[in-house]
Amino acid sequence: MPSDWFPNLLRLTVRLIRTKRLTDKAKVIQVMSQRPDHSTPQPQPPTSRRRAPAVPVVADRIDIHCHLLPGIDDGCRDSEESRECIRRLKAAGFVGSICTPHMWPEAFPANTPANIRAMVARFDEELRDAGIDYRVWPGGELRLFEGVIPWLEKNGVPTLGDSNFVLVDFWDKQWPRHANAAFEWLIKNKYQPILAHPERIPGSPTDLDKRLLEVEKMGVLLQGNARSVTGGEGMAAGEMVRMLMQQNRYAFLAMDLHRPDGLNSRLDGLALAEVEFGQKAVDFLIIKAPRRIVKID
Ligand SMILES: [Fe+2]
Repeated sequence: MPSDWFPNLLRLTVRLIRTKRLTDKAKVIQVMSQRPDHSTPQPQPPTSRRRAPAVPVVADRIDIHCHLLPGIDDGCRDSEESRECIRRLKAAGFVGSICTPHMWPEAFPANTPANIRAMVARFDEELRDAGIDYRVWPGGELRLFEGVIPWLEKNGVPTLGDSNFVLVDFWDKQWPRHANAAFEWLIKNKYQPILAHPERIPGSPTDLDKRLLEVEKMGVLLQGNARSVTGGEGMAAGEMVRMLMQQNRYAFLAMDLHRPDGLNSRLDGLALAEVEFGQKAVDFLIIKAPRRIVKID
């Protein structure tokens, strides 16, 4: 047995005791303070509704919403950025991502379901060739623009992986008239719409809640952005994400990552969500629920 086994064991024990003594909030603050992109303090929504302690990161997370595919939208600009994001996602316990580039013909005419599938297949091959163990699946973040139904009829529906789930959003300043018609069309054609980051939709919280209840009743699922929990998407989004979490109205939580420089605040949102809503709730939204989409155990 090596002679230094006892001091090493002692150091390890002290470290474990110190870690245990940290409060949950202190752990999150410690993690956040070590991150380089926190030089500008973000406004923090109230965090008094904590439920359960934070615990170390668990592997097996799957991100259902990201802009990881290089050079195709406002996400990662090249393979280097994509690989940097993957390296950090893996360190945070992620094992795969559904690539969901923006789909809106006015800004990204080349982003059709067929093109994205081919690009994700090439990206997957590139990762394998580089020995990077990380799963990627095709998808899209479909903007519900006026005329989206004829576009879907012509180009096909950008489903997530091989599922019938479809991630949608809209960028309008208020709830667009054509959104509900698109939801109805998708549901009628046996697709399962997921509305991305509803907490970010501007307007009165009461009106937004009413609109969301209406589409949830139709069968639309909601996906929250982890970053909204930090207040990084604004105070209103911070309050709305808390209300929807409290009411168990999210089906998924996601990173919606774009580039390496913004990734830390998104990971912080996940850590903060664990502190406030409990690891079990967060694990369900980012580990178990995504498996329904990609159909893996
Ligand atoms: Fe997105």
